[in-house]
Amino acid sequence: MPITLALDIYGTLVNTDAIKTALPTYIDNKADIFAQTWRAKQLEYTFRRGLMGAYKDFSNVTKDALDFTCKTHNIQISQEDKNALMDKYLALDAFPDVTPALTQLKQKGARLHAFSNGLSQDISKLLLHAGLDNTISSIVSSQDVQTFKPDPRFYAHFIEQTQTTPDSTWLVSSNPFDVIGAAACGWQTIWVKRNPSAVFDPWEQAPTLTVSKLTALVQIAALWERD
Ligand code: LAC
Repeated sequence: MPITLALDIYGTLVNTDAIKTALPTYIDNKADIFAQTWRAKQLEYTFRRGLMGAYKDFSNVTKDALDFTCKTHNIQISQEDKNALMDKYLALDAFPDVTPALTQLKQKGARLHAFSNGLSQDISKLLLHAGLDNTISSIVSSQDVQTFKPDPRFYAHFIEQTQTTPDSTWLVSSNPFDVIGAAACGWQTIWVKRNPSAVFDPWEQAPTLTVSKLTALVQIAALWERD
């Protein structure tokens, strides 16, 4: 069976930190902490909603996290500026290693699927913006199962949707919680350690492989040359 790669999107293929470039100039001095709080709260809300069985789509979760971030840092942002920030979330750039890596992986016969908490329509826009739409075979979104990573139902849904098996599926993600979630479901995993000082959670599951860039995968021919 050809190798299947389940590609996480936010923080793995596209750079969520780029949101800082769209922040209004009056929060320039708080850009780092603002972007950090927003992303952390967005993820926290997905975890909490997943546990509560209180699904709300990722775009609205992201908006709620933005409101929380503004309140926390005591920053008033106009509705227009908020809309511009949400629009930027649909137009984040891919990390520079992504296009060459995915193009070569596809040429080598790997089956590439987007696997994300994001709404399908939002991921489509992101892939188009990043010029990756031709490399990705399909988008598997958490909206299909109304829950979020790392809920095992979402990983099971991916296997069903792409008609593959856990042991021939590799999750590719920069998010340790995602890697652990996939490993717990019997998948192979690749942790993309984009930040050299990132720490992997000391849990029962470790990543099968750790790379700093996706292009490293192209050299690991054994991954996709299995039959
Ligand atoms: C995603 C988030 C977890 O794309 O990065 O699913």
